Amino acid sequence: MEKVIMAAKAANNVIGKDNSLPWHLPADLEFFMRTIEGEFLIAGRKFFESIQGREVFHEGVEGIVISRQKDYQSPTVLVAHSIEESFQLAAQNGVQKVYILGGGEIYQQSIELADRLIITEIHGEFEGDTFFPDIDKSRWEEVSRSDRKKDAVNPYDYSFVVYEPAILSLLD
Ligand SMILES: NC(=O)c1ccc[n+]([C@@H]2O[C@H](COP(=O)([O-])OP(=O)(O)OC[C@H]3O[C@@H](n4cnc5c(N)ncnc54)[C@H](OP(=O)(O)O)[C@@H]3O)[C@@H](O)[C@H]2O)c1
Repeated sequence: MEKVIMAAKAANNVIGKDNSLPWHLPADLEFFMRTIEGEFLIAGRKFFESIQGREVFHEGVEGIVISRQKDYQSPTVLVAHSIEESFQLAAQNGVQKVYILGGGEIYQQSIELADRLIITEIHGEFEGDTFFPDIDKSRWEEVSRSDRKKDAVNPYDYSFVVYEPAILSLLD
């Protein structure tokens, strides 16, 4: 099963502040929603709860929320109690590809297990309390990049970047 991490991060690796995003970048939200459309989603409990009211986990979306709380329940998605269990549960449900949507704790624990990183790199430093792990360039190779300039509605320059395991790291 393919495991894809999707995240937007600032130049200083900040991804979140006060359980929310530190920026408003409509072009990235649009890209995010388009990319995850119809996909199987995995999210940490905090991120999941922070976005429940929005469009990501709308009715009909398949996915898993990860929590250590044994009695945690969601009316809309499956619940797993570890990263590994979330992958097992997805595989048992015949899923070929999962999108890991964060937040910080989940990225930290799953980056070593992922097959691809789809990262929006926001060209600025932000204050925050949640971070994306360093992308080890000996382990990850940039396979595509699309640089975008700020405009009337998107107040920062940003790049859509895809990383895949570096060939040399696969030979280890
Ligand atoms: N920029 C981006 O792309 C992006 C994407 C997603 C989120 N974010 C931001 O990231 C922040 C949220 O991230 P976060 O790190 O605070 O929380 P999180 O990763 O969304 O969720 C953490 C929770 O996941 C559960 N969990 C974590 N590891 C686990 C494990 N090994 N086994 C079982 N359960 C586990 C625990 O839930 P319980 O407490 O229920 O046990 C834990 O409290 C927000 O600011 C959000 O806006 C940014």
